[in-house]
Amino acid sequence: MRNVKIKGTGRYVPDNIVTNFDLEKLVDTSDEWISTRTGIKERRISKGENTSDLAFKAAKKALESAEMSAEELDLIIVATVSPDAFTPATACIVQGLLGAKHAAAFDLNAACSGFVYAMQVAREMIKSGTYNNILIIGAEVLSKIIDWKDRNTCVLFGDGAGAIILSSSDEQGIMSIKLGADGSKGHALKCDAVPVNNAFMDQVNQQNKLRFISMEGREVFRFATTVMAEGIENILKDNSIDINEVKYIIPHQANYRIIDFTSKRLKVDISKFYINLQNYGNTSSATIPIALDELNEKGLLEKGDILIFVGFGGGLTHGAALVKW
Ligand code: UT7
Repeated sequence: MRNVKIKGTGRYVPDNIVTNFDLEKLVDTSDEWISTRTGIKERRISKGENTSDLAFKAAKKALESAEMSAEELDLIIVATVSPDAFTPATACIVQGLLGAKHAAAFDLNAACSGFVYAMQVAREMIKSGTYNNILIIGAEVLSKIIDWKDRNTCVLFGDGAGAIILSSSDEQGIMSIKLGADGSKGHALKCDAVPVNNAFMDQVNQQNKLRFISMEGREVFRFATTVMAEGIENILKDNSIDINEVKYIIPHQANYRIIDFTSKRLKVDISKFYINLQNYGNTSSATIPIALDELNEKGLLEKGDILIFVGFGGGLTHGAALVKW
C-alpha cells in the first residue's frame, strides 16, 4: 500500500485587518464581548480579492515549500463554501492561474470540515495509485456571504486560504482519517443559494432571500464540543496511540471556548492545541491549513511528530486526521 505524506504547506490572507473595535462602529457589539465569548481579536477581510485569488497565492507558497512545479500536479481540490462562481469551480480557476496543465480540478463543500474531507479524498486517490501529487486548498472569502448588520455572525468570521501538497511516499504520513455528518442538524448553520425559479412554474417564486450565513450558535457549540473530543478520542483509539504521543492538535478555529472545553474533557493541557483564531477569526475550510503553515514556517514541526487535525462545521459535518509529519 502506498503512503501519503504532506510535502509542502502555504497560506495567504488579505492585508486588510479588521479589529473588534472596527466592528463596534458597524454593529451593537464590543471588543469585550467578542474577546470573552470567542477569543477573536481581529480578522482579515478582503477588499476585492476573490476566493480563487487567495487560493492561488496559498497554492504558490505550498508549491515553493514542496519544491515542486505546478506541472507536476495531478489534481487540485479546493474546499470552500464561498466559491467565485457556481461554475467554473474555484479549483479550475486556480489550475489555470498556476498553469497546472496536467491537473484535474474540482471543488468540494463540507464547510469548515472541508479541508479534512479533501484530505481523505486525495489520500485515497494517491493510495490507489491513480495520482501522485495533489494540491488541496481550503479557501474562503466569507465576507461576501456575511450580513454585516447581524452581530450574531459578522464578528465571528474572516477571509483566508491555506494549502498543502500531498504526495505518494515510502514513509508513513497520513495515518488515519475519520469523517462524519449529521444532516438532520443542517439548519443550525446555513447559507441559502438561488431559489428555484423557471419558466414552467405556476407562480414566480417571490422569495428573494438575502443569501447570508445564519447560525444557531448554541446548537453548533454543543455539536462542536461533542464531535471535537470524540473525534480525537476515536482516532487515537483506532490507531492505539496515546494522546501524550501527539505533539500538536490543530483544531478548526471557531471559538476559543470550544477548544478550551475540548482540552478539559480530554484532560490535556490547552498548549497542545495550536490556536491562532485571535488573529483571523473563523475562516471555515481555511483554518486548519493556515494554522499548519504557521507551525511549519515557525519551525515548530519535526520529522516524525504526530499531529491531529480536527474540524467541524456546516452540514453539520466533522472530521479528524492523524498525521505523521
Ligand atoms: O465553523 C463553525 C461555526 N460556528 C461555531 O463554531 C459557533 C459555535 N457557537 C459559538 O461559538 C457561540 O454560540 C457564539 C460565539 C456564536 C455565541 O456565544 P454564546 O455565548 O452562545 O452567546 P448567545 O448566542 O447565547 O448570546 C448571548 C447574548 C445574547 O443576548 P441576550 O439574548 O442574552 O440579551 C445575544 O444577543 O449575547 C448577545 N450577542 C452579542 N452581544 C454583543 C450575540 N452576539 C453579540 C455580539 N456582541 N456580537
